[in-house]
Amino acid sequence: MEGKYDPRNKLNDLTGKEWLKLTKSFWVSEKCADDKAAFAHPAPFLIKDIEKLISFFTKKGMRVLDPFMGSGTTGVAAYNLERVGIGVDLNEKYRLLAIERYSKKGMIEDDYEYIVGDSTKDLHLISNIDYIVTSPPYHNILKNNSKGLRNDNSHKGYRNGSRLGVEYYSDCPSDLGNQDTYGDFLNLLRLVMEQCYLILNDNKYCSIVISDFTVDKKEVCVQSDIVSLMESIGFEFVGTIVLLQDNKPLYPFGYPFAFKINHMHQNIINFRKRVLV
Ligand SMILES: C[S@@+](CC[C@H](N)C(=O)[O-])C[C@H]1O[C@@H](n2cnc3c(N)ncnc32)[C@H](O)[C@@H]1O
Repeated sequence: MEGKYDPRNKLNDLTGKEWLKLTKSFWVSEKCADDKAAFAHPAPFLIKDIEKLISFFTKKGMRVLDPFMGSGTTGVAAYNLERVGIGVDLNEKYRLLAIERYSKKGMIEDDYEYIVGDSTKDLHLISNIDYIVTSPPYHNILKNNSKGLRNDNSHKGYRNGSRLGVEYYSDCPSDLGNQDTYGDFLNLLRLVMEQCYLILNDNKYCSIVISDFTVDKKEVCVQSDIVSLMESIGFEFVGTIVLLQDNKPLYPFGYPFAFKINHMHQNIINFRKRVLV
């Protein structure tokens, strides 16, 4: 342990020094050997990135929800830090993938919950959540076959479009990745986040990990739309951490005519359910 723990700290188990490091507005995304087990999923988190978030926003024993649990990375990170990970995903195939990862780590049923369900309507089955961390499917980006999105860079350990031949998550109409318009995507995300607000304990935090992206070839400031959406539900915006992914390939999208950005980071957009006592 580096530094001193302040007994007034009700948020996490970190010392002052450890706390300060994690308040930087950028982090460099970090891979580890255990990430590989998730690569049958098109867009998994990296375990170390999520461990940092969980270590900042919870104490040991607390309950962490991911309403788009996919391959179960949030569950693995929570377990590594002695928290309980609770996940929901539409897709049974991803629950099985997560359980395979969990059992390899020696996790037993008491160590996690994984519900196959629809987070636009099923989150009332869950209660008493201390932190939410999640990454929604990006509109219909996995179905977008523009150059660069579907290259398999899984060997590099970075989420970068589809992997191992998996092109998109499901054919379900309430899959956020299947929406025809960006507006429909935001409407479904709102339904999920309204329920998240209800089951999150007072004064606790929620982090949404998402990058800006293009819709119909037009750059969209997704971050700003998500902040507006979350504020309209009642969440307080508390700052964005830029998660750098500096070894993704660069594509000459606009060259030599116009500026077209290469997204080399995710935004970790953080919110608090602020309830004054
Ligand atoms: C970006 S991925 C999350 C990946 C996850 N963070 C991981 O580490 O594997 C988004 C997930 O949301 C799921 N999903 C999409 N719509 C959903 C919905 N309405 N309810 C629950 N899960 C949904 C997809 O099946 C997909 O696995």
